[in-house]
Amino acid sequence: MKLLFYDAKSYDQSSFTEALKNFPDMEIEYTKSDLDPRTAFLADGFDAVCAFVSSDIGPRTLEILHSKGIRLILMRCAGYNNVDLEAANKYDICVMRVPGYSPEAVAEHAMALALACNRRLYKAYNKVRENDFSLNGLMGFTFYGKTAGIIGTGKIGAAMCRICRGFGMKILAYDVYPNESLKDFVEYVSLEKVLSDSDVISLHCPLTDDTRHMINIDTIRQMKDGVILVNTSRGGLVRTDDLVEGIRMLKFAGVGLDVYEEEADNVFEDRSDEILEHSTTARLLSFPNVMITSHQGFFTREALAAIAATTLQNASDFFRGTDSENRVR
Ligand code: NAI
Repeated sequence: MKLLFYDAKSYDQSSFTEALKNFPDMEIEYTKSDLDPRTAFLADGFDAVCAFVSSDIGPRTLEILHSKGIRLILMRCAGYNNVDLEAANKYDICVMRVPGYSPEAVAEHAMALALACNRRLYKAYNKVRENDFSLNGLMGFTFYGKTAGIIGTGKIGAAMCRICRGFGMKILAYDVYPNESLKDFVEYVSLEKVLSDSDVISLHCPLTDDTRHMINIDTIRQMKDGVILVNTSRGGLVRTDDLVEGIRMLKFAGVGLDVYEEEADNVFEDRSDEILEHSTTARLLSFPNVMITSHQGFFTREALAAIAATTLQNASDFFRGTDSENRVR
């Protein structure tokens, strides 16, 4: 069984080469190109392709993959909002994903962003490096006793709830399907109440038609002044122009983003020598209370090992005809 692995980075190759030892009938070829309509033809002669959050898996890509005989797309991530499922079904291409490789890795990064914004750690680090030992501009607030608002309490949101409990925070949550395992220490309330009562808001629901731009100027207005907003889920949950407006009206003590609307061209690329002329990301970064990381929430040793093992198991299940709950339907 031959897999073509798109957008391969050195750390992907390390983790998949290690996991491959348990799948002797599989072979992987790696390409640095990401999957999109221009590169889909490379899949000629392969049985499956492996793609990521930045891949463009729209109707045209799927049509080309289908013409090359591809029946399986292995998403090495949890989210699959970049896959046109209707077109995949039309071409009888199965899409599989890795639903929960290390929820704690993402939740820990969400808390790291909240803390870094709150205490302006990025600024503190640079100040001290320049022998500026003053505390101007570094004041935060104590998380202990404050309210965390968690939107989406699946695997990652639940891990975030547990972390916030460890910090001694009160936890409000909103989810269309409340998580029974959290009910001892999490209070489920309406989205409006999460927005209006929380000091730290963290987004952990998937990007769907219902959730796209759930953080917009109206919902931002409902938030407390001085709130910290963290998004480690998907950029499309937040309407960037409205976020900028919210920052300008001094709504936020801090904004921590591991994902943002414009990220597709940036994710895992070194663009340090470019002038990003029309970038709203650059605009966001001009504010002293914003910290952006480049979709690194998942990036721990443990998570990469789990992603590789599950992705290869998904391929094995598909080609053996074993049903799997990792199949996206
Ligand atoms: P999950 O499927 O376990 O949980 C998602 C939760 O969101 C579910 O409880 C669901 O009921 C809830 N939900 C769905 N629609 C909702 C709505 N309209 N309003 C409120 N809640 C809603 O997913 P998991 O594993 O916790 O991942 C969450 C998201 O995190 C993924 O969809 C993905 O976009 C993102 N992610 C980001 C990573 C990163 O590196 N930054 C890595 C992995 C995932």
